[in-house]
Amino acid sequence: MNKKEIIEILNQDLQDEHGAIIQYLVHAFSMGEGELSCEIEAIARDEMRHLDWLAETIVELGGMPSLKRGKQNMTGKTVSQWMGNNVGLEDGAIESYKKHIKIIDDPKIKRLLKRILADEESHRGDFAHFVDKAAKEQMKDKRGKRSDKTSKTLDWGIAHEYTVILQYMFHSYMTRNKEAKKQLEDQAINEMQHLGWLSEELVDGGGTPVIEHTTVNKSTKLKEMLTADLKTEKEVAAKYDAAAKVTKDTGLKKLLERIRDHEKYHIDVFNDLMKEEKRK
Ligand SMILES: [Fe+2]
Ligand SMILES: [Fe+2]
Ligand SMILES: [Fe+2]
Repeated sequence: MNKKEIIEILNQDLQDEHGAIIQYLVHAFSMGEGELSCEIEAIARDEMRHLDWLAETIVELGGMPSLKRGKQNMTGKTVSQWMGNNVGLEDGAIESYKKHIKIIDDPKIKRLLKRILADEESHRGDFAHFVDKAAKEQMKDKRGKRSDKTSKTLDWGIAHEYTVILQYMFHSYMTRNKEAKKQLEDQAINEMQHLGWLSEELVDGGGTPVIEHTTVNKSTKLKEMLTADLKTEKEVAAKYDAAAKVTKDTGLKKLLERIRDHEKYHIDVFNDLMKEEKRK
């Protein structure tokens, strides 16, 4: 098997990890706060680590990590049904990883896929247990149909945060500059927090988070990446600031101001990296 074929296989796995992350996060946000949603978020974080390992391996092989989202099953009306869907998604992942371990001969990549497979098998068991737990507790979908100015602000924020998570992760994978790589990953993790806060706020207020992204900047040169990232951060810091000023909801105001302050911090971080890069 040549490098190109391995990259293609790893990108399929990466896309499925991406699908699983979003499916699990949507479930966690939609069932409301509690022990189960925390456990599901922890599983989503495992999948993020898998995505990270796969992306780094793809880049090492000379490829580019895919930004497409793979298999998902978002059907079901009760939390128990959702957990059943997750068992199915893990079954699919287990099957693909077993197949890919067999056909890839590179020992290092085989080892990586085996490590991921062990996690997926453990997740499968967890979700099977959650099917019963959610049924026993009669856990329901907490989402509503709210659609007003506030929910639209949150919708905008969610789409923005999802977009920059993908953008900063992609930039982090593609740059060879170690400091930029670390900072881009750090800020992407911070944007993940924003995505979670905004989604939970929306569900609490009776809305439904839609986790879809807008255009992701796929520059591969650091200067171009930072130009795009700085432009976005400046726009969104201003937008969060404006949204915080108009809302009368004090809880939401505090949340928007906190996110705005993080975005300002991102501007400073990216500006520093840009200065350093221009000096070269
Ligand atoms: Fe999994
Ligand atoms: Fe953000
Ligand atoms: Fe930001």
